[in-house]
Amino acid sequence: MPNLAIIGAQWGDEGKGKITDYLDESADIVVRFQGGNNAGHTIVVGDNIFKLHGLPSGIVRKGKLAVIGNGTVVNMDELLEEINQVTEAGCSLEGLRISDRAHLVINYHKKLDGSEEGYRGQKSIGTTKKGIGPAYQDKIKRVGIRAGDLLEDDVLREKTNSNLPYKKNLIAMLKAEPCGCDEDMMFNKLKGWQEKVGKYICDTSVMINEALDNGMKVLFEGAQGAMLDIDHGTYPYVTSSSTCSGGICTGAGVAPNRIEKVIGCLKAYTTRVGEGPLVTELSGNEADALQKKGGEFGVTTGRGRRCGWLDLVVAEHASRLCGFSSLAITKLDVLNDYEEIPVCTAYMIDDKETKYFPASISKIKRAKPVYKVMKGWNGWNDTYSVVREGYDALPDEMKRYIEFIEQYLNIPADIISIGPDRKDTIDRKGDWWN
Ligand code: IMP
Repeated sequence: MPNLAIIGAQWGDEGKGKITDYLDESADIVVRFQGGNNAGHTIVVGDNIFKLHGLPSGIVRKGKLAVIGNGTVVNMDELLEEINQVTEAGCSLEGLRISDRAHLVINYHKKLDGSEEGYRGQKSIGTTKKGIGPAYQDKIKRVGIRAGDLLEDDVLREKTNSNLPYKKNLIAMLKAEPCGCDEDMMFNKLKGWQEKVGKYICDTSVMINEALDNGMKVLFEGAQGAMLDIDHGTYPYVTSSSTCSGGICTGAGVAPNRIEKVIGCLKAYTTRVGEGPLVTELSGNEADALQKKGGEFGVTTGRGRRCGWLDLVVAEHASRLCGFSSLAITKLDVLNDYEEIPVCTAYMIDDKETKYFPASISKIKRAKPVYKVMKGWNGWNDTYSVVREGYDALPDEMKRYIEFIEQYLNIPADIISIGPDRKDTIDRKGDWWN
């Protein structure tokens, strides 16, 4: 039952898209298990550039199954736009499957997301305003509409009639933009989705487990990162789903003892979008330079990402929670022009040193990073030799940086990425499926 998971070890945007893209070529099935179209990554296949948010990356490769698991929330309108994008480029939808237990993001969720953010004022989370939080709120409140409901008219009618009036009241109370539809219009809209995507809706847990029984290669594609996990992240500055590897079990319907390898995708420095504390955050010119060199602007919202040095307290938190068996260290080339590179190894909080990421936001805000300053590989740029000769051709300082991370976390850095191109990837493991 070969399977692999790729999980972000920070606040998302670690370069998971590139690593997933590299590994999904050899997978049979690619599964999204949490989040929705708040995620975003770019995949390059030949001359085609795909910007995907809701569709699993496997959809752009011939002969693969691309599964949207039960732990996700699906915005069907935006999914249909992505479907158009990939079909216009000649991709087939034959492999698409949507869990009948996945929840739907409805127009009112988007409106509520925007107005709830407005009400938070200074305390806003900085959400993507895609309606993700409100859709998960409905799921937990047990009033959500699921993809499987699209297949049963009476259920759909009943849920439309019970949900819409309540949501309209809520929207009026929050003075949000009105829904602009009545129950019949909403029902017809959902019926329209049924016609377009109904044939892809099924029990994906049964399908994934049968695939594992039959020795098919399954890749679980995480969205966001461990620090945005609803339980373990920097709450309340988190997303509303379980982004850690445990989310695979609930979000794809796969038992814990079936998960084999978990790759933690760790960017060589730190970024986050939206609000919330970031202990190693840089400011001024230093921050601007790193943001510009790393191209740190969101695929989903276009917002500039906040930047800082690598934080191993964060990486330890993520690895302990997710059980990383390998690391994929990305964007090392972005640090090419530094004489020295600080790496955070502990926090000082109220005169006490800790190596563990605290739950309390006020403690995290008071935390001061304790840095180990590493020598940089200033000016190095010989990716050509690395492509030919592999890891050994990396500069010694970069190897020491990588080895320091490996030793701190006690996890091998099996993938090293030194550029955006697929060829700028050093794979120190090779066969990922054995
Ligand atoms: P939401 O997921 O839209 O509710 O946003 C909650 C927080 O998660 C905000 O700080 C977002 O910026 C952040 N977030 C959501 N999706 C991503 C992602 O794919 N990458 C990085 N941050 C994200």
